[in-house]
Amino acid sequence: MQLIDGNKISKEIRDEIQVEVKKWTDKGERKPHLAAVLVGDNPASQSYVKNKIKDCKSVGFESSLHKLDENVTEEELLALVEKLNNQEGLDGYIVQLPLPKHLDEEKITLAINPEKDADGFHPTNIGKMVLDMPTFLPATPYGIMELLDRSNIPTEGKHCVVIGRSNIVGRPMSVLMSRKSNPGNATVTLCHSRTPNIEEFTRKADIVIVALGKPYYLKKDMIQEGTTVIDVGINRVRDSDTGKNKLVGDVDFDEVKDRADHITPVPGGVGPMTRAMLLKNTLLAYERNISSEKN
Ligand code: GUN
Repeated sequence: MQLIDGNKISKEIRDEIQVEVKKWTDKGERKPHLAAVLVGDNPASQSYVKNKIKDCKSVGFESSLHKLDENVTEEELLALVEKLNNQEGLDGYIVQLPLPKHLDEEKITLAINPEKDADGFHPTNIGKMVLDMPTFLPATPYGIMELLDRSNIPTEGKHCVVIGRSNIVGRPMSVLMSRKSNPGNATVTLCHSRTPNIEEFTRKADIVIVALGKPYYLKKDMIQEGTTVIDVGINRVRDSDTGKNKLVGDVDFDEVKDRADHITPVPGGVGPMTRAMLLKNTLLAYERNISSEKN
């Protein structure tokens, strides 16, 4: 078993981004700028956003955080989105999900300027991704593609089983793995909550990507020897030994690692890659903007 080290690979990517930023700023250009909108006080969202802001600093980006009260109205949030859409020198921004129940996520996502959609969640960008056009890719699936690429895991002609059909992970993941590209060119099966006998699919898979949000879901007897296992789950569970909360994935790592060829840990696998790819999308937006600001 070989561990796919998301901390190490994401650091490589951040280093590459930092070098790129320095090239521009050495030429007298402004820094790339990413903003985050955080609504309410969901502890997981607070922690994710804090880390995203920290990452910006580490690569030389400017960042800004817009914190809104849990009870903010849809109109107020849409007004902020509009302001960010029009803010000069702001290359990209994200609205951290999930939003409180009274806010319509679809409506908010649609209001984001696709050119500043660093998450790659806007339907325009999802459509471009499906059609293989250059665009911002959703950060988690994009990060998984980088993990596979930089770990030299072959995907062409392989059977990839994705478990979970969320808009931000499972569904785009299935599209990227089936694209005519490397990584990609895989035969993809997308399993979900209505798939009977998921183990019949995972046992025939070369690559299993698990993104369903159930702690310890994937067991050793559900995969064949030599499978690459990518764990997207981030679940907070109580550790019976210490009585404290800890983060675990959707994969029962301790038993699956003995049968898997390559496997991502939680934490330290996919999570840091998501953050790195958000920076990469922002850099892409910045480089487009710098070129057009000159013209
Ligand atoms: N919530 C969980 N993951 C993400 C993400 O990648 N982006 C945003 N905006 N919200 C999330």
